[in-house]
Amino acid sequence: MSSFTLPDYTLSEQQVPQFQCAVLPQSEKEALKAQIAQRLDALGAVLIAHYYVDGEVQDLAEATGGFVSDSLEMARFGRDHAADTVIVAGVRFMGETAKILSPAKRVFMPTLEAECSLDLGCPPDEFAAFRAAHPDRTVVVYANTSAEVKAQSDWVVTSSCALEIVAHLRDQGEKILWAPDKHLGRYIQTQTNADMLIWSGACVVHDEFKLKALLDLKKVYPAAAVLVHPESPAAVTGIADAVGSTSAIIKAASQMPNDTFIVATDKGIFHKLKQLNPSKRFIEAPTAGDGATCRSCAHCPWMAMNELQTLDRLLRDETYRAGCEIHVGDDIGERAKIPLDRMLAFQRGV
Ligand code: 13P
Ligand code: SF4
Repeated sequence: MSSFTLPDYTLSEQQVPQFQCAVLPQSEKEALKAQIAQRLDALGAVLIAHYYVDGEVQDLAEATGGFVSDSLEMARFGRDHAADTVIVAGVRFMGETAKILSPAKRVFMPTLEAECSLDLGCPPDEFAAFRAAHPDRTVVVYANTSAEVKAQSDWVVTSSCALEIVAHLRDQGEKILWAPDKHLGRYIQTQTNADMLIWSGACVVHDEFKLKALLDLKKVYPAAAVLVHPESPAAVTGIADAVGSTSAIIKAASQMPNDTFIVATDKGIFHKLKQLNPSKRFIEAPTAGDGATCRSCAHCPWMAMNELQTLDRLLRDETYRAGCEIHVGDDIGERAKIPLDRMLAFQRGV
């Protein structure tokens, strides 16, 4: 039987950086964007951004032939694009995933300090001990993990495909060891009824959404639909009208007939939601209320590090750039690529 006792891997307030984005006048932003576009072109690089980063960075990615998407589509786009230099505006696991899938490409990020609380809350050695204590289980890890953790897994999933993949494994009669997000794990377990042993990590953004305050807000906007990312606590997903990944939230907002939405995910997503649905109203789900610490206030401090100025510095300062390249060791990379390829093949129906 297992000798591994699973501690709580939720990050404390002190472990979360208090990052303040610089506020620039619009003229300065436009000048920076033009400069960055020129430098991307000169470098033959493509910019891929997550929905949570600064809206200006998202617009720039699209205007320069790059891409804005969820973590699954970012991985696929980086792999399939012809450019041999990829700039990932997101968090470190996204840069690592791009590198693992395309080891011959050079992958850079505006800053390698852009971490993720789920990745930080799943140290590879401790995860190895957890895995070793349960050798009879199929190891399924969320994409929000380090290359070292992915290298120890059978499957990698993102929130876009986790439900389908776990349901498939359940149908094969497999018992699952899941890491690191406890809320997403519990949500999938409830939806699929799969036998899952769940690590106890959490996202500092989604962990903070509060049921009581959300119910109060719903009373103010009774016609609003509630859209929730499944990294949120069970009480919050439990009253949602739609639960899904960032791209699923965006799709739901466009397809649902409501004209007002309360959205429980990182507020960076509001940029794309408003762009695609200019006549609809989007309201932030509350993070305040009983027990609130507001470690993130619905904005990921690591995603916020992807500022225009940092991106500009990455492209113009070679010394700085050298410190922002993603490196994944060959052995780890090869082992981590297997479960990632498995996920992408599953999505293609192979
Ligand atoms: P998606 O996979 O939905 O893009 O989410 C990634 C993430 O980090 C959510 O907090
Ligand atoms: Fe990680 Fe949460 Fe930030 Fe997403 S929002 S990158 S899960 S800390």
